[in-house]
Amino acid sequence: MGPPGSGKGTQALKLSERLVIPHIALGDILREEVAGGTEIGKQAEKFMSAGKLVPDELTIDIVRERLKKSDCRDGFILDGFPRNSNQAKNLEKIFLELKVGLDRAVYFSIPLPDVVKRLSERRSCKRCGAVYHLTFHPPKKSAKGGSASGGKDVCDRCGGELYQRHDDEESIIKTRFSVYGDETKPLIKHFEEKGVLLEIDAAGGVEEIYSRLLSSLGISK
Ligand code: AP5
Repeated sequence: MGPPGSGKGTQALKLSERLVIPHIALGDILREEVAGGTEIGKQAEKFMSAGKLVPDELTIDIVRERLKKSDCRDGFILDGFPRNSNQAKNLEKIFLELKVGLDRAVYFSIPLPDVVKRLSERRSCKRCGAVYHLTFHPPKKSAKGGSASGGKDVCDRCGGELYQRHDDEESIIKTRFSVYGDETKPLIKHFEEKGVLLEIDAAGGVEEIYSRLLSSLGISK
């Protein structure tokens, strides 16, 4: 958990590679549905492009079906779910159904001005979903680097084209922050009361935060 741009996706991907368990990011799944023009994608698009939460009727079933897949048997990292109290209640039911437990809810805390800079220069890979930042974590082949990349930003992992997310536009970022404050932030208390909350100071460089995350979880590099 954490506000938009706090680094949830960046850290979750690194941790999933370290633990060899799936990184399940609801935002990525929904963007794939939109790109594929599916019925779910068509319904989700208007909410996502406005920076609002997609209705629970769509998201809860997606998560339930995804967690039933065999690659989740040894664990998984959920990124961006739950985001409101109804999703949290339903996640508990799904965990009961699947007989799995929640080890930790990681909360990335960071001052809002820091995340605005992160979001405005974010680039994501169209093919594999890897996330970059033009200043803090630039791809090796960048448009800033001139002709070597053919004027395009290219993913280091898979060579896919990088793009700027539509919802990283300033007015939509503002809506995402306010939705986060109203609907998602209150869940921090919920996880604290359950005794599973782990708060990580998310200001600083990617590797610094990753080291903090691993040591708080008691995992070696
Ligand atoms: P989603 O894609 O989950 O967006 P978000 O929550 O707003 O989070 P972000 O992806 O913007 O940020 P992040 O914290 O993952 O940061 P990142 O690692 O990318 O959701 C999008 C939309 O989908 C929602 O608005 C909603 O419509 C819908 N949706 C999703 N889940 C839903 C749900 N449960 N219910 C209903 N609707 C849902 O990092 C950001 C940038 O900073 C990158 O450029 C990165 O390279 C850079 N960076 C990261 N860490 C550092 C660092 N330490 N230092 C410098 N730069 C850094």
